[in-house]
Amino acid sequence: MKKIDRFKSYMKEHENLLSCPICGDSMDVQDHHVLCRQNHSFDIAKKGYVNMMTQPVHTKYDKELFEARYQMIQHGLYKPLHEKVAEIVGERQSVIDLGCGEGSHLTDITRLTERQTIKAGLDIAKEGVMTAAKYHQDTIWCVGDLAKVPFKQASFDVVLNILSPANYQEFKRLLSDDGIVIKVIPNSGYLKELREAFYDGDDFDNQDTKDRFKESMHEIDEYRVTYQKPLSSELLPLLLKMTPLTWNIEEPVELDITEVTVDLDVLVGKGE
Ligand SMILES: C[S@@+](CC[C@H](N)C(=O)[O-])C[C@H]1O[C@@H](n2cnc3c(N)ncnc32)[C@H](O)[C@@H]1O
Ligand SMILES: [Zn+2]
Repeated sequence: MKKIDRFKSYMKEHENLLSCPICGDSMDVQDHHVLCRQNHSFDIAKKGYVNMMTQPVHTKYDKELFEARYQMIQHGLYKPLHEKVAEIVGERQSVIDLGCGEGSHLTDITRLTERQTIKAGLDIAKEGVMTAAKYHQDTIWCVGDLAKVPFKQASFDVVLNILSPANYQEFKRLLSDDGIVIKVIPNSGYLKELREAFYDGDDFDNQDTKDRFKESMHEIDEYRVTYQKPLSSELLPLLLKMTPLTWNIEEPVELDITEVTVDLDVLVGKGE
């Protein structure tokens, strides 16, 4: 089956979850677009995703960054994180990743749960969603804004939000009864080898982000996932390309590192 046909049939199967980002009405998946009863229409791309933005947005995240993230994740950069998050997701049946980037977190985490999961991934960067659609299937891949997610209220058991901005009011709207938000944020050791090389080891503090999560969500659990990932020489250029940490670095820097630290906090909360 062609990529677009497989995508359309997956979307059609789950069209009851969609809501129009303009008027909030239900949506019908048709041949080349998704349409609400007020005739607000969004194109389905041949590459297997749907663009639900109401106006185009330019972001600094480009194709090269998402390709590099994809390759690094294939090499296991986030494997221990995925194992921890999959354990938290457990038996839950539907997952949306908001700020999904190139989609590997969602695919790898749901694969580890060994359940048939309903999956959706949304990102404001079209290049991220295009990369996701290139590598992963059986997911509603969607270009959209996480502040106005084109899915109905109470439509997901899990909202994932990994290394991306949050909008807790919108996340809570999406959660089913007993649904959970899993937010992953960096802690002080995260990619410290790069921050030491480029920023002389800047002060790092994620307390404000944690406080905002705690003010917005209930029944919080918190886990820290910390490990070192060995780096072969071919992975180093990919590591430099996959992160905004190198965006403002103009001079080429000789880096001599053989491993990189991953140090993340996993915050889990319920809507009420
Ligand atoms: C550091 S990247 C992380 C991407 C992915 N979760 C990962 O870990 O590989 C942050 C992502 O948040 C996305 N993002 C930023 N603002 C957003 C918004 N308002 N709605 C949806 N996505 C957004 C960016 O486009 C980018 O893909
Ligand atoms: Zn509409």
